[in-house]
Amino acid sequence: MPCQICEAVAERLGENYVSVKVGQYVNGFGGIPHHEQVGNVELVDYTGPGNITGFYSMQEVQLDVQAYLLKTEADTEQRRSINQSDEEEMPQARILPLPNVLLNEAWNSLVFDDALPARLLRYIVRMVGMMSQPDLNLSTFNWNRLCLLHGPPGSGKSTLCRALVQKLSIRLGNVFDKSVLIEINTNAMLSKYFGESGKLIGSTFEKIFTMAQDPGILVCVVMDEVETIAGSREKSTNGMECNDGLRATNQLLTALDRLRNLPNVIVLCTSNLIDAIDPAFVDRVDIKQLIPSPSPAAIYNIFRSCLNELVRSNLVDSAVQFSERSSSSRTLSSSPRKPATRSGGRKVVNRNTSASSPSEPWTIVSPPIIPTFSDMKVRFEGQPDSPACRVWALAQKCHGFSGRTLRRLPILGLAMYTWGGDCTLQDAVSALEAAVEQELAVIKGSKRDIQMART
Ligand SMILES: Nc1ncnc2c1ncn2[C@@H]1O[C@H](COP(=O)(O)OP(=O)(O)O)[C@@H](O)[C@H]1O
Ligand SMILES: [Mg+2]
Repeated sequence: MPCQICEAVAERLGENYVSVKVGQYVNGFGGIPHHEQVGNVELVDYTGPGNITGFYSMQEVQLDVQAYLLKTEADTEQRRSINQSDEEEMPQARILPLPNVLLNEAWNSLVFDDALPARLLRYIVRMVGMMSQPDLNLSTFNWNRLCLLHGPPGSGKSTLCRALVQKLSIRLGNVFDKSVLIEINTNAMLSKYFGESGKLIGSTFEKIFTMAQDPGILVCVVMDEVETIAGSREKSTNGMECNDGLRATNQLLTALDRLRNLPNVIVLCTSNLIDAIDPAFVDRVDIKQLIPSPSPAAIYNIFRSCLNELVRSNLVDSAVQFSERSSSSRTLSSSPRKPATRSGGRKVVNRNTSASSPSEPWTIVSPPIIPTFSDMKVRFEGQPDSPACRVWALAQKCHGFSGRTLRRLPILGLAMYTWGGDCTLQDAVSALEAAVEQELAVIKGSKRDIQMART
C-alpha cells in the first residue's frame, strides 16, 4: 500500500531543498496530509555509488522515505519468549517487536571509520529485496541470508546486530507488515540443558519456522557468540568436547537449511572466535565481516561523544572553557561562577571577571565541547594544550582498546580522579588521561605476567 505521508514528505523535501546532508533533521511539513503524525524527519543514509561526502543535490538523488512508529516499552512488555516449559526461568529466545525504542540509540552509539554499518545494511537490504522478487527461483542460488560479524571482544558486534535489525525493519517497512527480532540465548542452549541442546535448538528453530510462515513478517534472528552452539564438530569427535556440542551443531545446520527457503528470514550471528566455529557453518555464511577494534580516529570520536555527554548533562562544568585561537591570544577563559549552562551555540564571556587584560573586555570562546575530528584538525592545529588536541593525543595511545573499554574510561576517570564540585572540561580530559594511563599499566602488567609464566 502506498504510504501517503511518505509521498507527501518526499514531495515537500523536493520543493523546499536544493541539497541535503546525511544526518540532517528537516522540518516544514505543516499542511501535508496527516502532518500531526509526523514527529522527526531525519535524512539518515545515502546508498548510491560514488559521492560519500554526506552532501547531496536533490537533483542527483532519489528519495526513499519510510514512515514508522517505534514500538514502546508497553508493546515490549508483551514481548514474548520461546520457552521449553512455563516454569522456565532462562528463555531460549526472546522476541522483540521492531522497530523498538529500546534499540533506537544503538546505531548512533557505534563509531567506525569506513561507514561499515551503512555498507552492511545496504548489502542486507538488497539481499532481502532481491529474494522477494516473485519470479526468482530460490533453489538456483545457495543463499542463506546468514551474516557473521566476527572480531575481538567489545568491538561492537552485538550492538551492531541490534542496530542493523532495527534499521532493516524500518528500511523494509514497505515490504513487510511487521518485523520481529528473535534473540537466541546461545548460552542457555548449551550450559543449562547439558545433553539436550540438540533437541532445544531443533524446537526453538521449529517455532521460528512456524512464525516465519507468514510472509508479511520479517523475522530477524540474532545469535550472539554463535561458536557456543556451532562449535567445530571435528574437535567434538576428537574427544576434546562432548557429544552434546556435536549434536547442537548438527541440529543448527539442519535448522538453517530449512530456513533458507523462507525469504522473510535473516540470521545475524556474532563470534569472538571464528576459528572455533564449524567449517560447515562458516561455509553457509553469506556475509562474513570482521569488526575490528576502533582506529585512533574512531577512538577520538568515542571519547568525544562521552566527554560531550558529560558536558551536556552538566557533570562537567560548561562555564569554564578553553578559548579558541582568537585575534588576540589563546587563554583559558572563565565565566563568573553560576549554575552550569547547557552547551550549544557560542557564548560571550566577560573577561573582566577572569585574570585577563581589562583592555579586552569581551571575547567569544568556543562552546566547551570536543569538536569533530576534522574540526579538531583544522581549528586546533598547533594548540597541544587544547582539550581537543589532548584527546587526539590520547586516542593515538589507546591502540587495541575495545569499544567497551573506551566508552568506560571517560566516566571512570571522572569518578576516580576528580572530587566533585566544579569540574572543567580540562579536568575531565586530565581524568581521562589518568584513566588511560592506568589501563595501559594494567595491560603492560598482564603482558609481563604472561611472559614470566612462559619462561
Ligand atoms: N566501535 C564502537 N564505537 C562505539 N562504541 C562501541 C564500539 N564498539 C563497542 N562499543 C561499545 O562497547 C559496548 C559493548 O559492545 P558490544 O556490542 O557488546 O561488543 P561485542 O559484541 O563485540 O563484544 C557497547 O556499549 C558499545 O556501545
Ligand atoms: Mg557480543
